[in-house]
Amino acid sequence: MSVIKASLQKPVRIFCLFLLILLFKAPAFAQQGRTVVDFDKGWHFNLGDINGGEQPGLSDASWRVLNLPHDWSIEGKFSKDNPATPEGGALPGGIGWYRKTFTVPASSKNKMIYIDFDGVYQKSTVWINGHQLGFRPNGYISFRYELTPYLNFGGANTIAVKVDNSVQPNSRWYSGSGIYRNVWLVSTDKVAVDHWGTHIITPSVTDKLADVKIVTTILNSTKVSQPVTLTTTILSADGKTVGSATQQTDLKNASTHIIQDIKVTNPTLWSISRPYLYRVVTRVSGKKYTDQFNTALGIRYFNFDPDKGFSLNGKPMKILGVCDHHDLGSLGAAVNTRALERQLQMLKSFGCNGIRTSHNPPAPELLDLCDKMGFIVMDEAFDCWEWKKTKYDYHLYFKEWHKRDLEDQIKRDRNHASVMIWSIGNEIPQQSDTSALRLAPELAGIVHSLDLTRPITTANDQPGKGNKIIESGAIDLIGYNYHEFDYATFHDRYPGKKFIATETTSGLEMRGHYDTPSDSIRVWPSRWDKPFTDGNKDNSVSAYDNVRPAWGSTHEATWKVMKKYDFLSGMFIWTGFDYLGEPTPYSWPSRSSYFGIIDLAGFPKDVYYMYQSEWTDKTVLHIFPHWNWEPGKMVDVWAFYNHADEVELFLNGKSLGVKKKIGDDLHVMWRVKYEPGTLKAVSRKNGKIVLTREIHTAGAPAKIELVADRKNVKADGKDLSFITVKILDKDGNVVPNADNLVDFKINGEAFIAGVDNGDEVSHDPFKANYRKAFNGLALAIVQTKEKPGSIIFTATSKGLKGATVVLTAK
Ligand code: GAL
Repeated sequence: MSVIKASLQKPVRIFCLFLLILLFKAPAFAQQGRTVVDFDKGWHFNLGDINGGEQPGLSDASWRVLNLPHDWSIEGKFSKDNPATPEGGALPGGIGWYRKTFTVPASSKNKMIYIDFDGVYQKSTVWINGHQLGFRPNGYISFRYELTPYLNFGGANTIAVKVDNSVQPNSRWYSGSGIYRNVWLVSTDKVAVDHWGTHIITPSVTDKLADVKIVTTILNSTKVSQPVTLTTTILSADGKTVGSATQQTDLKNASTHIIQDIKVTNPTLWSISRPYLYRVVTRVSGKKYTDQFNTALGIRYFNFDPDKGFSLNGKPMKILGVCDHHDLGSLGAAVNTRALERQLQMLKSFGCNGIRTSHNPPAPELLDLCDKMGFIVMDEAFDCWEWKKTKYDYHLYFKEWHKRDLEDQIKRDRNHASVMIWSIGNEIPQQSDTSALRLAPELAGIVHSLDLTRPITTANDQPGKGNKIIESGAIDLIGYNYHEFDYATFHDRYPGKKFIATETTSGLEMRGHYDTPSDSIRVWPSRWDKPFTDGNKDNSVSAYDNVRPAWGSTHEATWKVMKKYDFLSGMFIWTGFDYLGEPTPYSWPSRSSYFGIIDLAGFPKDVYYMYQSEWTDKTVLHIFPHWNWEPGKMVDVWAFYNHADEVELFLNGKSLGVKKKIGDDLHVMWRVKYEPGTLKAVSRKNGKIVLTREIHTAGAPAKIELVADRKNVKADGKDLSFITVKILDKDGNVVPNADNLVDFKINGEAFIAGVDNGDEVSHDPFKANYRKAFNGLALAIVQTKEKPGSIIFTATSKGLKGATVVLTAK
């Protein structure tokens, strides 16, 4: 809540009043026990440095008022001159200040009050009432400050945060800038569970019985001994008690660890297909103090075997994962739970079951979702240690901060059922240097001191002999980035060791763009250390899975090797989604990656269906490309299919032949002389039709179609509806090269949070009420405000019939 000043302008005053109402509505400071309040609303923001920005007396009335999470870079303009460079997304950085003034009632005097930041990019300094609480350089780490000693109880308090992302490049990908994750205000009694204060493991699990061991850290801030009762209860998903333990103890010290063992009979095991979660409720009660703290618990066991690979709950399976960076396309780095959930739903829809949080600790919401939705997570800490990858990256802070940052990551994330691998580094330049013999054991020791239940890996781009990280013996799982041609000899090289493909593929595709012939591979760039001079003039890349960089391999080539050997426990494909920055093989004017199986807007590229045909039970027949070409052109038509013996292709009713996958083929292909009309594919099993697909030559753009992923949204100020905008001809075919400019209008309690079309080269802003289509499609993301009601979203474009979709916010 902001302090309301008489001089404020009317809209600001109304906004402050609104915040005031919200604050009183929120149970911010209950009399007893713990409260955790979403502290995202009503911050004042200034882009640019402010002398004395931390001073409580400073007037921030003229600053912009906004809600977190917030990323100021995504609001900026693309330019090749931005210091992030196109590798970092070509968007601006700089320094930003955030301030929030709030009251704390006098009745809270006996409480402990903390502020929790889930992540601030980067180099944040935080003050309360002018007192500096601390500095955190790492832009991906979560941290807490205690506010209690510096608060005015019964009066106004000002939190000020300086965020410094001015010195760049400090990242090899788009980082975003600002308080881009959630902020929480936490209040507890003077005796309470500590920050990240439960550590829950399951030392033995069978179908009949699970041993659950809970270590609870209780903080006693009273300075005198406190008798307390600690009761830990495990509840099933439907709220029934399945086990509990109670212990009475005298808290003599400021911090006390209490170990409890609880047995759960006939546990429902957490798995990919049934991610069952129990709830562990920790209750602390003393004479004057109480606390209650919840931790999600997934009971499962897993193993990496040198020969048989990965198994979950005793069942062999492969980890079919993707690497992803943290940006959410046009929303930038600003975290949004629904946007993350949509990404995971799309990944799951092609059979993906794993996520590597490349190359940093993720937002906590991502891990919560992976627990709930059934993903296996490789939780990664660093992209560099002491040696740099970019001039101003974390190597500058590694020495001073690595222990603290790594400890905080493990403590925060170690209760997540989804997390099954810790990665202490990606392509660490020191892997070839003897310093790794010192550092790898040190980092592994930090992880093992906090968690012994998960293997540690590093993602090595030089996985051969001479790798000092591997030589150090500190690594449980040997991670290969690329080098799929070396998989077969892994055991000759590392007898008895366990394998994981920490990163694979790096296939390059632009959605909807096709270069023929499709059966020759373009190696773009052909050397990582030489300027790239080949390529297409318009920075396009073919979507036929026939383009890869020197170090990578195509999707099909990688998967063919991966499926061959059981000991290959799993893979993490670079990448699930396109991301901002690293526009390999190009540079400016490209500004985002071409690596995704799904583009930046969330539209699948064709190779999505290859995975779907291989990794899911869904019956698939996908043919491509589109059917709008110059007459006479020779066009390669591909089909990904499953659950069938053959596919027959017809052009305008005439058969072009039956094709069957032979050996390890993953698709079939016809080379067809183009003529306009209808291309039809029929898949058959034992002579019976399984599926039929048709593609029609599209006519001129005639109308817009809008498809909302969800029409009912929550009126909580955070929920999103992703609206796909399709440019259709008069008969309803998507026009595959349409680039019409579409204007958006919204009526009701919502706003447009972002627009996109997946084009890696576009410099149009992501925050706008218009977007050009790209290869027939565009996207608008609608975010609710906090009022229920109808949201009417309209799209118009010159010369086209417009469209409207109505959403309901409840
Ligand atoms: C890898 C690296 C990733 C990304 C990728 C692009 O070597 O680990 O961060 O740069 O290459 O192909």
